[in-house]
Amino acid sequence: MKVGDRHYRTIWLDEDDPATVRIIDQRHLPHRFVIEEIHAVSQMATAIRDMHVRGAGLIGAAAGYGMYLATLEAQRTRKFAEQMEAAASLLLSTRPTAVNLAWAVERQLDAIAQATNPARAVQIARNTAGNIADEDAAHCAAIGVHGVALINELAQAHERQVQILTHCNAGWLAFVDVGSATAPIYVAQEEDIPMHVWVDETRPRNQGARLTAWELQQQGIPHTVITDNAGGHLMQQGKVDLVITGADRVTADGDVANKIGTYLKALAAHDNGVPFYVAVPDATFDWHITAGQIPIEERDPDEVRFVMGRDGERLTSVQITPDGATAANFGFDITPSRLITGLITPRGICPPDRASIMALYPEKQPIA
Ligand code: MRU
Repeated sequence: MKVGDRHYRTIWLDEDDPATVRIIDQRHLPHRFVIEEIHAVSQMATAIRDMHVRGAGLIGAAAGYGMYLATLEAQRTRKFAEQMEAAASLLLSTRPTAVNLAWAVERQLDAIAQATNPARAVQIARNTAGNIADEDAAHCAAIGVHGVALINELAQAHERQVQILTHCNAGWLAFVDVGSATAPIYVAQEEDIPMHVWVDETRPRNQGARLTAWELQQQGIPHTVITDNAGGHLMQQGKVDLVITGADRVTADGDVANKIGTYLKALAAHDNGVPFYVAVPDATFDWHITAGQIPIEERDPDEVRFVMGRDGERLTSVQITPDGATAANFGFDITPSRLITGLITPRGICPPDRASIMALYPEKQPIA
């Protein structure tokens, strides 16, 4: 998507140096646009764990490129297979909730297993990482094509600007390009459908206030940042026509793990009769798990105690709780399918139930 006049992806392989992966270091946004070079799988693991890159799709792509960098390092040792196992374990240990990460690591391990020697494994891993990234972007684009119909219908029905609420950042910064929840919004913009986006700030890391607001601004989409608790009030006032969120893991029964606070928005939407849709690329379905088995990440409580922001030209962190305050930092929650109107997938929109999901994905065989 656009940053100023230039098109960027969130992650890419350096054209002149195939041992270097470049990422947008999102810790500095929206105040600074910083590109970071990644040369080793350990560095990629740190970038994922410490959220230089974040968002389910991008975490998957980053893991794919991390495995590719690991093949370059393993090739220089006599223990290729052991090194790759260690690299996979390292990446898998970084963040637990978004299934895209494990999916990408497993896809790389399966692909590399076909190689007859380390040099061939490097080639395969490089192609696989590129394919994971390209598919992520293509799946998000397809979500946009299907999802725009929802916005269009509302615009026709109300004959005014459509009011959309979103939570966290499920935009292009959370993927390789385009984004999931934002994909229908970007297509609606191309089709001149009038709309406005309510952006939940999304404590504690403020992905909405910092990232969604920045990327919508870059693309010229009208939007307003609101506090996390404002959505219910806006729905009661008739000021939200549609909620679209992303997802970090979706079960075959249509239950959704997404950024903490999503469940409360779904409850409020249900109470107010506001349609609540979740945008889900293929790699975010987990066919092997039920909602109760989804691991919910707990992060450093300091992310709750401190807030990062800009003070003049300086980026700084300030404490907002009393000294010694106990804090807890749950990263995600589960929204049960009964509160969800539909899933917007690359293959079409469906109700969030097993029969409808399996009709779109007949080749999958859920274990759970
Ligand atoms: O910033 P993260 O990685 O902690 O947040 C995860 C997400 O990006 C959101 O939950 C998002 O809505 C899922 S869609 C990528």
